[in-house]
Amino acid sequence: MITRILPPTDAAIAEAAALIRAGELVAFPTETVYGLGADGLNREAVAKIFQAKGRPGDNPLILHISALDQIAPLIACELSSVAKKMADAFWPGPLTMIFPKSARVPENVSAGLSTVAIRFPAHPDAQRLIAAAETPIAAPSANRSGKPSPTTANHVFEDMDGRIPLILDGGECLVGVESTVVDMTGPVPHILRPGGITAEQIAQVAGASEVDSAVMRPLAEGEKPRSPGMAHRHYAPNGQLTVFTGDSDRVIQRIQSEYDCAKANGSRPLILSMEAHVASYGDRRIESLGADETAMAHRLFALLRDADHMEADVLFAEGVEAKGVGLAVMNRLGRAAAFHIVEV
Ligand code: TXA
Ligand code: MG
Repeated sequence: MITRILPPTDAAIAEAAALIRAGELVAFPTETVYGLGADGLNREAVAKIFQAKGRPGDNPLILHISALDQIAPLIACELSSVAKKMADAFWPGPLTMIFPKSARVPENVSAGLSTVAIRFPAHPDAQRLIAAAETPIAAPSANRSGKPSPTTANHVFEDMDGRIPLILDGGECLVGVESTVVDMTGPVPHILRPGGITAEQIAQVAGASEVDSAVMRPLAEGEKPRSPGMAHRHYAPNGQLTVFTGDSDRVIQRIQSEYDCAKANGSRPLILSMEAHVASYGDRRIESLGADETAMAHRLFALLRDADHMEADVLFAEGVEAKGVGLAVMNRLGRAAAFHIVEV
């Protein structure tokens, strides 16, 4: 199959929508990461997503909508007043909410669970595509399973060339990490995956919020997480990544000595550091994570892909405090490092 990349002109959106309606896959930009879309009400089309990504069948998908009135047929209950407040405050935007699912939602979308994840993305091209397709679009991140999520059309092409007919190129994604996933089936919004909408913001709107304990730790042997995605290997670069947290002078010193040691052993190390610390590492090989947590979120996945292109076999990253958007950054860095996080 030839994979084309098109800018999101009206003609390209119409063609993409026709492909979705015909049961084919289209990759498209969102404000978080690129999605790999299919008609979310068509079981066979949804099955193609799992195939193209090499995604385990037990990992459910998010349904993307382009207007609030599209949600009622997909869920088994009315929106609670808290869910309404959250939708008001954060939609369209990088928030996914989980509700009890209706019978309209195919089994493979929810991977056999009784719930369904729903997101109303803010990206105008995503909204145009969903509206033109006239169906909710099921879309995971458009990477091959296990790889970092794609934040450019080229990243999608790296992973999906020959597997899908069309990629809509909307440029770089703004947020850079995937949406905040919140389970809304209990009394308090329960965050399964941190993202651009923070736990603090959710608590302010909903009165309270809780973060799942599996967000910042590896799973125990045989443990079944509330979000199946947490059980799978994720974001991992080819090289072995270690994250260092604590006092920044000590972190810099420790990374310098780990780097020099790795180099002396014949490895090809790479440092991922905060913008402000780049100069401290002298002429060691380094990539800047950016000036703050928001910049880090924006760049992280592209940097992890770059590290592979640079054939880095050992990576040392500076960590940040796990609060605000920093929680999303540390969750992704932690998982990319298989939770090799060292407090110095
Ligand atoms: O920003 C995003 O959310 C991107 C863009 C394309 O919208 N999508 C995305 O999808 O990241 P995906 O499939 O890569 O991640 C969805 C996560 C997975 O960890 C999955 O396990 C979880 O959401 N999830 C989906 N439905 C769920 C459900 N019913 N219950 C619990 N977790 C669910
Ligand atoms: Mg993903």
